[in-house]
Amino acid sequence: MAEPSRDKWSEWLLARRDGGDPEQRKKTLEFLAPVRGRVLDNADLSGGETLLDVGAGDGLIAFGALDKVGEDGTVVFSDISRDLLEHSEKLAKEMGESERCRFIEASADDLSDVESSSMDVVTTRSVLIYVEDKRRAFEEFHRVLKPGGRLSIFEPINRFNAPSLPSDGRLFMGYDTASVRDLARKVWTIYDRRQPRGTDPMLDFDERDLLALAEDTGFEEISLEYEAKVAPASVFSEEWGWTPSWERLLKSSGNPKAPTLEEAMDEALSPEERERFAAHLRPLVERGERTMRDAVAYLRSVKNKEA
Ligand SMILES: C[S@@+](CC[C@H](N)C(=O)[O-])C[C@H]1O[C@@H](n2cnc3c(N)ncnc32)[C@H](O)[C@@H]1O
Repeated sequence: MAEPSRDKWSEWLLARRDGGDPEQRKKTLEFLAPVRGRVLDNADLSGGETLLDVGAGDGLIAFGALDKVGEDGTVVFSDISRDLLEHSEKLAKEMGESERCRFIEASADDLSDVESSSMDVVTTRSVLIYVEDKRRAFEEFHRVLKPGGRLSIFEPINRFNAPSLPSDGRLFMGYDTASVRDLARKVWTIYDRRQPRGTDPMLDFDERDLLALAEDTGFEEISLEYEAKVAPASVFSEEWGWTPSWERLLKSSGNPKAPTLEEAMDEALSPEERERFAAHLRPLVERGERTMRDAVAYLRSVKNKEA
């Protein structure tokens, strides 16, 4: 029987992110474990507290928080994806943790199902990149937190690491495509059309905006850590634990809104062009001859005790 279809959020998080490769999924989760650790450390949780994880996805942060809030604590998973909420709810049941977990279908910028001043902690990881009204989201985080409650955020800063194609068309995803620049430009246009640089919520902010949003919406004790790297792909591969794979690159996409490379090539190129582009790109991918850029921000802030 055919697998029931999943929404794009669930499909990406559970399959397309890792090119459908279970071994790669394991490595991705190993890479994300310290990120989760940092988000939770910044949340400064104690036993018995209530945490709301906004855009909980498949529960990376939320399930990690269960240990920290202890037997008397509660973790609220919220997401716009019903499929991912059901996925996490099923996992919680299998783990015998249903009692300490709640599930809410809600967008980060409208948490009206969550009572004001009811949460000790709000966390969110890689979610604001999909939210158009980030100010409204911060206002909601502030509203639902108790006075003295903590907000802990992690976001990629994609303005820095967005796949770029300089006007000379020389680089595509960090690979040297000078000799096939006509094809690289065609494929890149597919990505740009889906997520236009000027307007896509993934590309319309940086770490300074996150800090300003926290400040403007009434948070205090704000601290932000920004990390940016530019390095040969081999350095990232070691850190992220992945091995270069053409097949996986073809089947994976950078985020739920982006096509896989295979889809973008199919849409942009004729069969002959696809062959020419692949003949050029594949050896570079397999040899890991790529320059990568990556930037992320961790933000921690506190709601005024008198608020
Ligand atoms: C990259 S995943 C991150 C999931 C999880 N936070 C993690 O750390 O693995 C992005 C998540 O944000 C959710 N999402 C997208 N837009 C959202 C919105 N407007 N409000 C709340 N969640 C949203 C998606 O459904 C998805 O679960």
